[in-house]
Amino acid sequence: MGWLTELVEERGAEALDLHAQTINPQFVKLLRTIGFDRRWARAQGAHLWDDDGNRYLDLLGGFGMFNVGRNNPRIREALVEALELERPGSVQLGVDVLPALLAEELLRRAPVSVDKVLFTSSGTEAVEAALKLGRAATGRSRVLSAEHGFHGLTLGALSANDGREFTERFGPLLPGFGRVPWNDLEALERELAREDVALFLVEPVQGKGVNLPAPGYLEGAQELCRRFGTLFCVDEVQTGFGRTGRLLALEHWGLEPDLITVAKSLSGGYVPVGALLMARRVHEEVFDSMPHAMSHGSTFAPNELAMAAGLATLHELRERRLVEESARLGERLLELTLPLVDEFEVVQDVRGLGLAWAIEFGEPDGGGSMTYRLVERAQQGLFAQLVVVPLFTKHRILTQVAGHDMAVIRILPPLVLTDADVEEFADALRATIKGAQRMPTLTKFAFSAATAAVSRR
Ligand SMILES: Cc1ncc(COP(=O)(O)O)c(C=O)c1O
Repeated sequence: MGWLTELVEERGAEALDLHAQTINPQFVKLLRTIGFDRRWARAQGAHLWDDDGNRYLDLLGGFGMFNVGRNNPRIREALVEALELERPGSVQLGVDVLPALLAEELLRRAPVSVDKVLFTSSGTEAVEAALKLGRAATGRSRVLSAEHGFHGLTLGALSANDGREFTERFGPLLPGFGRVPWNDLEALERELAREDVALFLVEPVQGKGVNLPAPGYLEGAQELCRRFGTLFCVDEVQTGFGRTGRLLALEHWGLEPDLITVAKSLSGGYVPVGALLMARRVHEEVFDSMPHAMSHGSTFAPNELAMAAGLATLHELRERRLVEESARLGERLLELTLPLVDEFEVVQDVRGLGLAWAIEFGEPDGGGSMTYRLVERAQQGLFAQLVVVPLFTKHRILTQVAGHDMAVIRILPPLVLTDADVEEFADALRATIKGAQRMPTLTKFAFSAATAAVSRR
């Protein structure tokens, strides 16, 4: 038995207490309050097991980083092989072939508008790179993003974030950042017409509420950006690599952005990774001379393990046709869950694209559910928690509230889900909403403060 196996066997049971002691006591308190304090023993595909041997359906997928499934054996093999090869990576004043090969694969699959890749180690770093390079390439400083947008939590990306729950207490944020309403081309045009905006940063499908773009919105935004000399930056950190039923979500609308950010699932969930794909002219403006050859970067960014995992992940997505599966299962999920809008007066909407899916609750018209009103008056978004918690504790299905103070539940499952998993979720959801509607309310308010924090990202 290896030392790591021994260590985990010996100390594994301490995970929650030790985490509270050394990392984050408030988070552990929160998990205990809402009954999410499992001791996790193992994971495979779209499932997790606790140390009592119970199996859970993981529809959260690590915030959408396990598109090829947890502990995917093909990605693991590639990583083991990369370790055994003892590659000469990260020479820093030298190059290896793996980053260039992954860049080549990414560009082969991306729209022709992008021509160079800059690797990062996370989504927020890819966004930071877009902000920095976008400013340098245009000589402009303003940055626009959409209301309800989420782009990461480092200071630059945070400045483009719309969630007050993330931004307050951390100001002042960077100057020059502004927000425009989602799906509003007129508002965007008014801002862009000032011809001082470096880039417009937008998610093709907003993660916070799984908000879909109105027909023509993204194409119109791209056209306006071109007209007024603004770089069009599509943030595919969450939507990339099959999430919406296309390899990149932008394919749904035939977009050709100047900048594309990716991360999360690119390394199969094993190794931190991210990338900024950029138009040739952006690259040429920033890296315009030998003294500027290293104008942006990060020590670990194009590391060998991330690159090997990235290559293996793109291969796995294609071999197992997981992008097509995402589209097919997403359709099936909508087919099974759209009827909930008619079945329950508290269900206002069910929406999705591929395996980015959400259900929205709302106060019924004209009287309706007393429970819903009482619960939401106690705390906005609480009704959704009354569904998320029993889905986990009773049905062993992990989901999440889509954003702070939101009556929306969303899922970002591994794309290796089966039809049976989708059916299990739809049945459990129906039973849980029925139960939540009948909930003797006041006894449930005890966990309201705690549950607010579960809906962070
Ligand atoms: C659209 C989008 N951009 C950026 C990020 C930040 O990525 P990371 O958590 O890897 O920093 C996220 C994370 O959820 C995201 O959804």
